[in-house]
Amino acid sequence: MTVRIGFAGAGGVAVTHLLNLLRLQDAEVVAIHDVDSDRIAACVRRVNGQQDLGARSGDDTRRLRPKAYTDYRAMIAEAGLNALYICTPPSVRGAIEMAAIEEDVALCVEKPVALRLDIAREIAGAIRDRNLVSSVCYQVRYSEAVVDAHKALGARPVAMGLGFMLGGVPSAPWWRVHAQSGGQIVEQATHAVDLMRAFMGEVVRVYGAGALRVHGEMPGFDIHDTGASVLHFASGAVGTLVTTSVLGGGSTAGFPTGLHLFAADYRVEVWGGTLKVVTPDRTDEYRYRASPMLALDTDFVDAVKRRDPARVRTPYGDALRTLAVTLALDESARTGKVTDVPRV
Ligand SMILES: NC(=O)c1ccc[n+]([C@@H]2O[C@H](COP(=O)([O-])OP(=O)(O)OC[C@H]3O[C@@H](n4cnc5c(N)ncnc54)[C@H](O)[C@@H]3O)[C@@H](O)[C@H]2O)c1
Repeated sequence: MTVRIGFAGAGGVAVTHLLNLLRLQDAEVVAIHDVDSDRIAACVRRVNGQQDLGARSGDDTRRLRPKAYTDYRAMIAEAGLNALYICTPPSVRGAIEMAAIEEDVALCVEKPVALRLDIAREIAGAIRDRNLVSSVCYQVRYSEAVVDAHKALGARPVAMGLGFMLGGVPSAPWWRVHAQSGGQIVEQATHAVDLMRAFMGEVVRVYGAGALRVHGEMPGFDIHDTGASVLHFASGAVGTLVTTSVLGGGSTAGFPTGLHLFAADYRVEVWGGTLKVVTPDRTDEYRYRASPMLALDTDFVDAVKRRDPARVRTPYGDALRTLAVTLALDESARTGKVTDVPRV
Protein backbone atom coordinates (compact mmCIF):
# COMPACT_ATOMS: atom_id res chain seq x y z
CA MET A 1 0.00 0.00 0.00
CA THR A 2 1.22 3.49 -0.85
CA VAL A 3 0.22 5.95 1.85
CA ARG A 4 -1.43 8.97 0.20
CA ILE A 5 -0.50 12.06 2.19
CA GLY A 6 -1.77 15.63 2.29
CA PHE A 7 -0.36 18.71 4.01
CA ALA A 8 -2.05 21.68 5.66
CA GLY A 9 0.45 24.53 5.92
CA ALA A 10 3.33 24.86 3.45
CA GLY A 11 5.92 26.76 5.51
CA GLY A 12 9.31 25.99 7.00
CA VAL A 13 8.60 22.78 8.86
CA ALA A 14 6.55 21.35 5.99
CA VAL A 15 9.71 21.42 3.85
CA THR A 16 11.52 19.23 6.39
CA HIS A 17 8.73 16.62 6.42
CA LEU A 18 8.31 16.71 2.63
CA LEU A 19 12.02 16.02 2.06
CA ASN A 20 11.80 13.10 4.49
CA LEU A 21 8.66 11.68 2.87
CA LEU A 22 10.29 11.74 -0.58
CA ARG A 23 12.81 9.26 0.82
CA LEU A 24 10.09 6.81 1.84
CA GLN A 25 9.02 4.62 -1.06
CA ASP A 26 5.70 3.78 0.66
CA ALA A 27 4.68 7.43 0.92
CA GLU A 28 3.32 9.77 -1.73
CA VAL A 29 2.45 13.41 -1.04
CA VAL A 30 -0.52 14.02 -3.32
CA ALA A 31 -1.94 17.32 -2.03
CA ILE A 32 -0.88 20.49 -0.19
CA HIS A 33 -3.25 23.04 1.30
CA ASP A 34 -2.30 26.55 2.39
CA VAL A 35 -4.34 29.73 2.55
CA ASP A 36 -1.60 31.34 0.46
CA SER A 37 -1.10 29.59 -2.89
CA ASP A 38 2.27 31.34 -3.36
CA ARG A 39 3.50 29.57 -0.22
CA ILE A 40 2.56 26.21 -1.75
CA ALA A 41 4.42 27.01 -4.97
CA ALA A 42 7.47 28.25 -3.05
CA CYS A 43 7.47 25.18 -0.81
CA VAL A 44 7.32 22.77 -3.78
CA ARG A 45 10.10 24.72 -5.54
CA ARG A 46 12.28 24.56 -2.42
CA VAL A 47 11.78 20.84 -1.96
CA ASN A 48 12.36 19.99 -5.62
CA GLY A 49 15.38 22.31 -5.67
CA GLN A 50 16.90 20.30 -2.82
CA GLN A 51 16.12 17.08 -4.69
CA ASP A 52 17.87 18.49 -7.78
CA LEU A 53 20.96 19.20 -5.70
CA GLY A 54 20.82 15.66 -4.28
CA ALA A 55 20.42 14.17 -7.76
CA ARG A 56 23.62 15.88 -8.90
CA SER A 57 25.52 13.98 -6.23
CA GLY A 58 23.82 10.71 -7.21
CA ASP A 59 21.09 10.66 -4.53
CA ASP A 60 17.35 10.04 -4.75
CA THR A 61 15.70 11.78 -7.71
CA ARG A 62 12.05 11.67 -6.67
CA ARG A 63 10.15 14.92 -7.16
CA LEU A 64 7.13 16.40 -5.44
CA ARG A 65 4.05 16.89 -7.69
CA PRO A 66 1.15 17.57 -5.34
CA LYS A 67 -2.16 19.17 -6.22
CA ALA A 68 -2.42 22.60 -4.59
CA TYR A 69 -5.53 23.56 -2.58
CA THR A 70 -6.43 26.82 -0.89
CA ASP A 71 -9.56 25.11 0.51
CA TYR A 72 -8.82 22.27 2.94
CA ARG A 73 -12.36 20.89 2.64
CA ALA A 74 -11.88 20.40 -1.10
CA MET A 75 -8.54 18.67 -0.46
CA ILE A 76 -10.02 16.27 2.08
CA ALA A 77 -13.04 15.57 -0.16
CA GLU A 78 -11.08 14.98 -3.38
CA ALA A 79 -7.56 13.80 -2.67
CA GLY A 80 -8.26 10.31 -1.26
CA LEU A 81 -5.91 10.86 1.68
CA ASN A 82 -4.75 8.18 4.10
CA ALA A 83 -2.85 10.73 6.19
CA LEU A 84 -2.62 14.47 6.72
CA TYR A 85 0.26 16.52 8.13
CA ILE A 86 -0.84 19.59 10.11
CA CYS A 87 1.90 22.22 9.71
CA THR A 88 -0.13 25.38 10.23
CA PRO A 89 0.74 27.90 12.98
CA PRO A 90 -0.42 26.65 16.39
CA SER A 91 -3.37 29.07 16.51
CA VAL A 92 -4.79 27.45 13.34
CA ARG A 93 -5.85 24.15 14.84
CA GLY A 94 -9.16 22.35 15.21
CA ALA A 95 -11.34 22.56 12.11
CA ILE A 96 -8.86 20.95 9.69
CA GLU A 97 -8.10 18.06 12.06
CA MET A 98 -11.80 17.42 12.75
CA ALA A 99 -12.63 17.42 9.02
CA ALA A 100 -9.87 14.86 8.40
CA ILE A 101 -10.89 12.68 11.35
CA GLU A 102 -14.45 12.50 9.99
CA GLU A 103 -12.99 10.89 6.86
CA ASP A 104 -10.82 8.48 8.92
CA VAL A 105 -7.61 10.21 7.81
CA ALA A 106 -4.60 9.62 10.10
CA LEU A 107 -2.93 12.75 11.50
CA CYS A 108 0.67 13.83 11.97
CA VAL A 109 0.42 17.12 13.86
CA GLU A 110 3.12 19.67 14.52
CA LYS A 111 3.67 20.70 18.12
CA PRO A 112 2.12 22.37 20.02
CA VAL A 113 -1.11 20.57 19.12
CA ALA A 114 -3.17 23.71 19.83
CA LEU A 115 -3.18 26.80 22.04
CA ARG A 116 -6.39 25.83 23.83
CA LEU A 117 -6.96 22.69 25.84
CA ASP A 118 -10.64 22.38 24.83
CA ILE A 119 -9.71 22.23 21.14
CA ALA A 120 -7.00 19.63 21.72
CA ARG A 121 -9.25 17.57 24.01
CA GLU A 122 -11.95 17.38 21.34
CA ILE A 123 -9.44 16.24 18.72
CA ALA A 124 -7.87 13.70 21.08
CA GLY A 125 -11.33 12.30 21.89
CA ALA A 126 -12.27 11.97 18.22
CA ILE A 127 -8.95 10.24 17.39
CA ARG A 128 -9.51 7.80 20.27
CA ASP A 129 -13.14 7.09 19.30
CA ARG A 130 -12.12 6.16 15.75
CA ASN A 131 -8.89 4.42 16.80
CA LEU A 132 -6.98 6.49 14.25
CA VAL A 133 -3.21 6.61 13.93
CA SER A 134 -1.86 9.93 15.21
CA SER A 135 1.58 11.32 15.79
CA VAL A 136 2.74 14.67 17.17
CA CYS A 137 6.13 16.00 16.13
CA TYR A 138 8.02 15.68 19.40
CA GLN A 139 10.81 14.20 17.32
CA VAL A 140 13.39 14.36 20.12
CA ARG A 141 11.70 11.27 21.57
CA TYR A 142 12.82 9.47 18.41
CA SER A 143 16.48 10.45 18.76
CA GLU A 144 19.01 7.71 19.38
CA ALA A 145 20.38 9.89 22.18
CA VAL A 146 17.07 9.69 24.03
CA VAL A 147 16.75 5.94 23.43
CA ASP A 148 20.26 5.43 24.84
CA ALA A 149 19.58 7.80 27.75
CA HIS A 150 16.59 5.67 28.74
CA LYS A 151 18.84 2.57 28.60
CA ALA A 152 21.58 4.30 30.60
CA LEU A 153 19.22 5.43 33.35
CA GLY A 154 17.53 2.04 33.53
CA ALA A 155 15.38 1.81 36.66
CA ARG A 156 17.20 4.63 38.51
CA PRO A 157 14.60 7.07 39.85
CA VAL A 158 15.18 10.60 38.55
CA ALA A 159 15.30 13.05 41.46
CA MET A 160 15.50 16.24 39.44
CA GLY A 161 15.39 17.43 35.84
CA LEU A 162 16.62 20.73 34.41
CA GLY A 163 15.28 21.82 31.02
CA PHE A 164 16.91 24.52 28.89
CA MET A 165 15.55 26.29 25.81
CA LEU A 166 17.93 29.14 25.06
CA GLY A 167 18.17 30.89 21.72
CA GLY A 168 16.92 33.70 19.52
CA VAL A 169 13.66 34.77 17.91
CA PRO A 170 12.52 32.44 15.09
CA SER A 171 11.73 34.17 11.78
CA ALA A 172 8.02 33.22 11.50
CA PRO A 173 6.15 36.51 12.28
CA TRP A 174 3.45 34.75 14.32
CA TRP A 175 6.01 33.43 16.82
CA ARG A 176 6.32 36.69 18.77
CA VAL A 177 2.53 37.16 19.19
CA HIS A 178 1.04 35.43 22.22
CA ALA A 179 -2.37 34.86 20.61
CA GLN A 180 -0.68 33.09 17.68
CA SER A 181 2.12 31.07 19.29
CA GLY A 182 1.28 30.85 23.00
CA GLY A 183 4.76 32.18 23.84
CA GLN A 184 8.15 30.50 24.00
CA ILE A 185 7.24 27.83 26.57
CA VAL A 186 4.07 26.69 24.78
CA GLU A 187 5.58 26.85 21.28
CA GLN A 188 9.23 25.94 21.73
CA ALA A 189 10.21 24.77 25.21
CA THR A 190 7.34 22.32 24.79
CA HIS A 191 10.02 19.94 23.41
CA ALA A 192 11.91 20.07 26.73
CA VAL A 193 8.72 19.69 28.77
CA ASP A 194 7.63 16.72 26.64
CA LEU A 195 11.00 15.08 27.20
CA MET A 196 10.83 15.71 30.95
CA ARG A 197 7.50 13.88 30.95
CA ALA A 198 9.06 11.00 29.02
CA PHE A 199 11.75 10.57 31.69
CA MET A 200 10.04 11.78 34.86
CA GLY A 201 6.32 11.16 34.43
CA GLU A 202 3.43 13.53 34.90
CA VAL A 203 3.67 17.11 36.17
CA VAL A 204 1.06 18.11 38.75
CA ARG A 205 1.88 21.71 39.68
CA VAL A 206 4.04 24.53 38.36
CA TYR A 207 5.10 28.05 39.16
CA GLY A 208 7.11 30.40 37.08
CA ALA A 209 8.31 33.90 36.38
CA GLY A 210 8.66 35.53 33.00
CA ALA A 211 9.82 38.90 31.72
CA LEU A 212 10.17 40.94 28.57
CA ARG A 213 13.66 42.38 28.96
CA VAL A 214 15.16 42.80 25.49
CA HIS A 215 12.65 42.50 22.65
CA GLY A 216 10.08 45.03 23.91
CA GLU A 217 10.79 47.32 20.94
CA MET A 218 10.35 44.57 18.34
CA PRO A 219 7.08 45.20 16.43
CA GLY A 220 4.27 42.97 17.71
CA PHE A 221 6.42 41.22 20.32
CA ASP A 222 4.09 40.59 23.29
CA ILE A 223 5.52 37.40 24.83
CA HIS A 224 8.13 36.90 27.54
CA ASP A 225 11.69 36.77 26.24
CA THR A 226 13.04 35.21 29.44
CA GLY A 227 11.53 32.78 31.92
CA ALA A 228 12.34 30.53 34.87
CA SER A 229 9.88 27.93 36.18
CA VAL A 230 9.63 25.14 38.73
CA LEU A 231 7.76 21.88 38.04
CA HIS A 232 6.45 19.38 40.60
CA PHE A 233 6.05 15.82 39.36
CA ALA A 234 3.54 13.24 40.60
CA SER A 235 6.52 11.05 41.57
CA GLY A 236 7.72 13.72 44.01
CA ALA A 237 10.61 14.72 41.75
CA VAL A 238 11.18 18.37 40.89
CA GLY A 239 12.32 20.16 37.77
CA THR A 240 13.19 23.57 36.45
CA LEU A 241 12.78 25.07 33.02
CA VAL A 242 14.67 28.12 31.83
CA THR A 243 13.87 29.83 28.57
CA THR A 244 15.11 32.81 26.65
CA SER A 245 14.97 34.21 23.13
CA VAL A 246 17.49 37.01 23.77
CA LEU A 247 20.47 35.05 22.43
CA GLY A 248 21.39 34.83 18.76
CA GLY A 249 24.17 33.45 16.59
CA GLY A 250 26.84 31.79 18.68
CA SER A 251 25.86 33.50 21.92
CA THR A 252 24.45 30.27 23.35
CA ALA A 253 27.95 28.73 23.19
CA GLY A 254 29.01 27.14 26.44
CA PHE A 255 25.50 27.09 27.88
CA PRO A 256 23.66 23.84 28.54
CA THR A 257 20.94 22.70 26.16
CA GLY A 258 18.13 20.20 26.35
CA LEU A 259 17.52 18.18 29.46
CA HIS A 260 19.76 17.33 32.41
CA LEU A 261 18.60 14.48 34.66
CA PHE A 262 19.91 13.74 38.13
CA ALA A 263 19.73 10.35 39.89
CA ALA A 264 21.82 8.99 42.79
CA ASP A 265 25.49 9.45 41.83
CA TYR A 266 24.38 9.58 38.21
CA ARG A 267 23.82 12.43 35.78
CA VAL A 268 22.57 12.40 32.21
CA GLU A 269 22.53 15.30 29.75
CA VAL A 270 20.50 14.59 26.65
CA TRP A 271 19.12 16.29 23.55
CA GLY A 272 18.52 15.37 19.89
CA GLY A 273 22.06 14.53 18.84
CA THR A 274 24.07 14.33 22.05
CA LEU A 275 24.22 12.32 25.25
CA LYS A 276 26.52 12.71 28.23
CA VAL A 277 26.54 10.26 31.13
CA VAL A 278 28.42 11.33 34.27
CA THR A 279 29.18 9.01 37.20
CA PRO A 280 31.67 9.47 40.06
CA ASP A 281 34.28 7.50 38.04
CA ARG A 282 33.83 8.62 34.46
CA THR A 283 32.18 10.84 31.90
CA ASP A 284 31.05 9.36 28.57
CA GLU A 285 29.93 11.57 25.69
CA TYR A 286 28.15 10.36 22.56
CA ARG A 287 27.14 12.09 19.33
CA TYR A 288 24.48 10.84 16.92
CA ARG A 289 23.93 11.67 13.26
CA ALA A 290 20.56 10.06 12.48
CA SER A 291 17.70 12.51 11.97
CA PRO A 292 15.04 12.15 14.69
CA MET A 293 12.45 13.80 12.41
CA LEU A 294 13.11 11.23 9.67
CA ALA A 295 12.66 8.47 12.25
CA LEU A 296 9.36 10.05 13.36
CA ASP A 297 8.07 10.41 9.77
CA THR A 298 9.10 6.83 8.94
CA ASP A 299 7.33 5.47 12.00
CA PHE A 300 4.17 7.45 11.24
CA VAL A 301 3.97 6.18 7.64
CA ASP A 302 4.58 2.61 8.87
CA ALA A 303 1.85 2.94 11.49
CA VAL A 304 -0.62 4.25 8.88
CA LYS A 305 0.26 1.37 6.53
CA ARG A 306 -0.30 -1.18 9.28
CA ARG A 307 -3.27 0.72 10.75
CA ASP A 308 -1.54 0.39 14.11
CA PRO A 309 -1.79 3.47 16.38
CA ALA A 310 0.33 1.72 19.04
CA ARG A 311 3.49 1.87 16.87
CA VAL A 312 3.80 5.64 17.38
CA ARG A 313 5.91 6.96 20.29
CA THR A 314 4.29 10.38 20.27
CA PRO A 315 0.50 9.93 19.93
CA TYR A 316 -1.87 12.89 20.10
CA GLY A 317 -3.37 11.86 23.46
CA ASP A 318 0.06 11.99 25.08
CA ALA A 319 0.95 15.34 23.49
CA LEU A 320 -2.27 16.72 24.95
CA ARG A 321 -0.72 16.25 28.41
CA THR A 322 2.40 18.18 27.37
CA LEU A 323 0.13 20.99 26.18
CA ALA A 324 -1.64 21.03 29.56
CA VAL A 325 1.71 21.46 31.36
CA THR A 326 2.98 24.22 29.06
CA LEU A 327 -0.30 26.15 29.26
CA ALA A 328 -0.11 25.95 33.06
CA LEU A 329 3.52 27.17 32.96
CA ASP A 330 2.53 30.09 30.75
CA GLU A 331 -0.41 30.96 32.99
CA SER A 332 1.76 30.86 36.10
CA ALA A 333 4.43 33.08 34.53
CA ARG A 334 1.75 35.59 33.51
CA THR A 335 -0.23 35.60 36.78
CA GLY A 336 2.59 34.92 39.25
CA LYS A 337 0.44 32.21 40.85
CA VAL A 338 1.16 28.57 41.61
CA THR A 339 -0.87 26.68 39.00
CA ASP A 340 -2.19 23.12 39.08
CA VAL A 341 -1.87 21.21 35.82
CA PRO A 342 -5.36 20.08 34.81
CA ARG A 343 -5.89 16.33 34.35
CA VAL A 344 -6.50 15.49 30.70
N1 LIG B 1 8.94 19.88 15.43
C1 LIG B 1 9.75 20.92 15.28
O1 LIG B 1 10.91 20.89 15.68
C2 LIG B 1 9.22 22.17 14.64
C3 LIG B 1 10.09 23.06 13.98
C4 LIG B 1 9.55 24.21 13.39
C5 LIG B 1 8.18 24.45 13.48
N2 LIG B 1 7.38 23.57 14.13
C6 LIG B 1 5.92 23.80 14.24
O2 LIG B 1 5.34 23.70 12.95
C7 LIG B 1 4.23 24.58 12.83
C8 LIG B 1 4.46 25.49 11.63
O3 LIG B 1 5.67 26.19 11.80
P1 LIG B 1 6.47 26.80 10.54
O4 LIG B 1 7.78 27.22 11.09
O5 LIG B 1 6.43 25.86 9.41
O6 LIG B 1 5.58 28.08 10.24
P2 LIG B 1 5.50 28.92 8.89
O7 LIG B 1 4.97 30.25 9.24
O8 LIG B 1 6.80 28.81 8.15
O9 LIG B 1 4.42 28.10 8.02
C9 LIG B 1 3.06 28.06 8.36
C10 LIG B 1 2.25 27.98 7.08
O10 LIG B 1 0.87 27.86 7.44
C11 LIG B 1 0.13 28.66 6.54
N3 LIG B 1 -1.17 29.03 7.15
C12 LIG B 1 -1.45 30.05 8.00
N4 LIG B 1 -2.76 30.05 8.31
C13 LIG B 1 -3.31 29.00 7.64
C14 LIG B 1 -4.63 28.47 7.57
N5 LIG B 1 -5.66 29.04 8.23
N6 LIG B 1 -4.84 27.39 6.80
C15 LIG B 1 -3.81 26.82 6.11
N7 LIG B 1 -2.54 27.27 6.13
C16 LIG B 1 -2.30 28.35 6.91
C17 LIG B 1 0.98 29.88 6.25
O11 LIG B 1 0.62 30.52 5.03
C18 LIG B 1 2.37 29.23 6.17
O12 LIG B 1 2.70 28.85 4.86
C19 LIG B 1 4.15 25.30 14.19
O13 LIG B 1 3.24 24.64 15.02
C20 LIG B 1 5.55 25.16 14.76
O14 LIG B 1 5.57 25.15 16.18
C21 LIG B 1 7.88 22.45 14.69
